[in-house]
Amino acid sequence: MDLQIISGSANPSLASSVASQLGITLSHRIVDRFPDGELRVEIQETVRGHDVFLIQPTCPPSEENLMVLLMLADACRRAGAGRVTAVIPYFGYARQDRRAVGRQPVTARLVADLIECVGIERVVSADLHSRAMEGIFSIPLEHLSGVPTLVDAMKSQLSEDTVVVASDLGATKLAERWARLLDLPTALVHKQRLSGDTVSVREITGDVKDRSPLLVDDMISTGGTLAAAIEVLLAAGAKPNVHIAATHGLFAGNAIQRLSALPISRLLVTDTVTQAGNAVAAFSTATMAPVFAEAIRRLYEGRSLGELLNLG
Ligand code: R5P
Repeated sequence: MDLQIISGSANPSLASSVASQLGITLSHRIVDRFPDGELRVEIQETVRGHDVFLIQPTCPPSEENLMVLLMLADACRRAGAGRVTAVIPYFGYARQDRRAVGRQPVTARLVADLIECVGIERVVSADLHSRAMEGIFSIPLEHLSGVPTLVDAMKSQLSEDTVVVASDLGATKLAERWARLLDLPTALVHKQRLSGDTVSVREITGDVKDRSPLLVDDMISTGGTLAAAIEVLLAAGAKPNVHIAATHGLFAGNAIQRLSALPISRLLVTDTVTQAGNAVAAFSTATMAPVFAEAIRRLYEGRSLGELLNLG
């Protein structure tokens, strides 16, 4: 089977870097709209019998990006592709993996069902909100990690007094992984979400006084988690020399303004989500293209993903 990479509309620059790492070019396709606003997708090269990898994060606009992915997969299946793998660097709706109150959907499962029903045989993603996502799919889910990429890009900037801080309970294992790789101590911020963009922080576990915090998380959305954590860290005597590392930078709503007002020395995310200009002076991006490219290469060749996987 020939290897073929098709980019969706959400992050063509990441897709193009992945293809170039693999020494191939992206297949030509059309993604635009009909005059009435409906999406139109067309693959302009044969896919018959090929091992096709569709690269499309389902970040906002999540519904449009998901629909483009489903339409590309449907087009591949109908055109006789040998196998279709969805590479979804950022997986939207993953946080809706259970009902917080009654009469809510489990949207993560709904999205998984939609992905499976268009003939996608395997999903590759990175640093999902919860590892439970694996159980939501019946097809294989290859869960990659952005941590080695972030650690490489961040480590030379950190001072000896750094403490790795989990910005909430869910990030504890992530913080432990960073701490192991950098041989640093950890602390944990106890967070309670009050609404979509407000959180309250009750206490900190661990010694942060006179230390420089490195906050780690899987994603930054409104920045509410980080803002609340930084406030409580500074109140507990941490140095105003805050570093932040997260795999997915969504920066929803007024996240950038919120974060710009804080004493952040460096904020690092990966390129799973396209970053269009940014007001945070200390903001930077590390590319995960080599990780996705290597995963695609090994999947295509039927080799183990080994250390690329996030099993933490
Ligand atoms: C939540 O549990 C995640 O790990 C992140 O902490 C959260 O999604 C970030 O969202 P926000 O930036 O809106 O606080």
